[in-house]
Amino acid sequence: MASMLKLVTLLLLSCSVVLASWPSCNCASVQYSGADVEAAMVQGNKTNPSPVFGGRGYPHRFGNREGVKLPYCDSKEYVEYPLKQGKAYTGGPPGADRVIYSTKNAFCGCITHTGATQRNGFVACGVKQ
Ligand SMILES: *[C@@H]1O[C@H](CO)[C@@H](O)[C@H](O)[C@H]1NC(C)=O
Repeated sequence: MASMLKLVTLLLLSCSVVLASWPSCNCASVQYSGADVEAAMVQGNKTNPSPVFGGRGYPHRFGNREGVKLPYCDSKEYVEYPLKQGKAYTGGPPGADRVIYSTKNAFCGCITHTGATQRNGFVACGVKQ
């Protein structure tokens, strides 16, 4: 009986670990792990927890004039921060890919310049939760 309880507890624990894992993004075949996505959001918030529209540098608010579908958060107050593989962006060329999170720090999706038809526009990346 005790071992049964242990097993159930273990199962519940492993489930919550899976739920707590971060979504990963595929931006025009460039893969970003959950750790990459998390690192970008943590660094973005650390750099500026209250970004504004039209701000210089990153993070800054994202207006989404393209109407990119960002279904992973329930906010429309978006923040963009560059995505990098294996590390968080801390300056320099931002590259083509971004994580989008809400001003309340929830993951909203990933976007990329690669394949966008509008100049400086963005399209959605693939997200795996
Ligand atoms: C940054 O983190 C703080 C603390 O979790 C949170 O209150 C704030 O909304 C976050 N800012 C953004 C832009 O996500």
